[in-house]
Amino acid sequence: MGSKLAILGGKPAVTVNTKELWKRPIEEEKRLVCELIERGEITGAGYGISKEFEDEFKEYIGCEYCLTVDHGSTALESAYYAAGVGPGDEVITPAAGYIGSYSGALHMGARPVFCEMDPKTLLMDPEDVEGRITHRTRAINPVHMCGKVCDMDALMDIGRRHGITIVEDAAHAAGCEWDGKKIGNVGDIACFSLQGVSPGGKPVAGGEGGVVCTNNRELYERALIYCHLHRRGITEEITNPAYRGLDAEVLGLKYRAYPLALAIALISLRNLPYRIERAIENRERLFKGLRDIPGIEPVHTYPKARWHGLYGGWEVIYHPEELGGLPPERFKEALKAEGVPVRGHVWASGHPGEHLRMIYRRGFDLWGHGRGPLDTQHGFMGLPPFKPYKKGDFPITESLAERVITLPAYIEPERGLIEQFIEAFRKVAENYRELL
Ligand SMILES: Cc1ncc(COP(=O)(O)O)c(C=O)c1O
Repeated sequence: MGSKLAILGGKPAVTVNTKELWKRPIEEEKRLVCELIERGEITGAGYGISKEFEDEFKEYIGCEYCLTVDHGSTALESAYYAAGVGPGDEVITPAAGYIGSYSGALHMGARPVFCEMDPKTLLMDPEDVEGRITHRTRAINPVHMCGKVCDMDALMDIGRRHGITIVEDAAHAAGCEWDGKKIGNVGDIACFSLQGVSPGGKPVAGGEGGVVCTNNRELYERALIYCHLHRRGITEEITNPAYRGLDAEVLGLKYRAYPLALAIALISLRNLPYRIERAIENRERLFKGLRDIPGIEPVHTYPKARWHGLYGGWEVIYHPEELGGLPPERFKEALKAEGVPVRGHVWASGHPGEHLRMIYRRGFDLWGHGRGPLDTQHGFMGLPPFKPYKKGDFPITESLAERVITLPAYIEPERGLIEQFIEAFRKVAENYRELL
């Protein structure tokens, strides 16, 4: 490899294939899907593939209760209902998050209250969360972004002290661990997404789908009655006297998962442990090689966390001040020219933070007639009129949004790829003056 930067006409540092070589077991998926089609098992919940998936997922996570639904976002909606979130409540969620993490609460009439990130892990900062608690806070929503793991000890402690439920968005975090326990068996209630296709989709992927996990019987039963209309055996399953006597149509919503999606997700669940081991091994090799390169800092991990990045990827923080002020965009372009498939931050769908979406910059008349938690003119169910957010409200999140570089997570990279990525970063960092 020459030292002339590829962006200036030199040879790229990456010469091997950057595509993921691991292939999902399509034949196994087809076999199971065809079996279900032949048996006519393409609807229903509480038996068949739905029960099989829930049992296997529950065993894998190590939690008491597991409920499959049609999407990760409806899993979260059900969890907010389970936690008793309603009109006039507040839910604390990271500005470096995602709309689906809290949209279920918003549509129940709760107001999202954004919080800052820890600049090292890029995850919800517990101290900042605690400072935003009011008597209206009903839930705290840690988002395990990119399959990293939030500081669950600190957040659970805050939840306990204030009597607030922790509703985890684990859409990216199936198989991740905190202190040796899988996410889904740590907080009060955790929600997973099954969206997409492996590799690249959610860690357990079946096209579309979601899962709610909890160890709390009351939270489980509330999620069940909220959205599992006509689940087989539901009336016998309910034990809470307040809900016994509901018929099989419970509260009327039907968010159950689609069996063919669960079949594909079940195969994905079975090969998840292998993908996790490989992704962690590869990430550690990459991060070890990047650590001594000036201008970049691999994202940090809380000591009790074990994470993979299978969805969202592996983040690196860029420090322009260490490279003569070279703008982040220029640094990224140079890396791309070297053959590294980098992109920017993955939170907030391209906005620097959730707070800068139009509905939070201007407010929004959610239900018409000046009603709802984002109305700037009127109070709503005890909430004062909504005060719009503006640029500068979350300086840590906004600054990092410009400087976070993300690489895809690899399960089976071509031999030499990780080493070539490291070389590419080193080459750009050593030759930065040529880009100024
Ligand atoms: C962080 C996060 N939360 C929630 C969701 C919602 O999941 P689903 O797409 O299955 O509704 C997603 C989906 O991309 C997500 O990335």
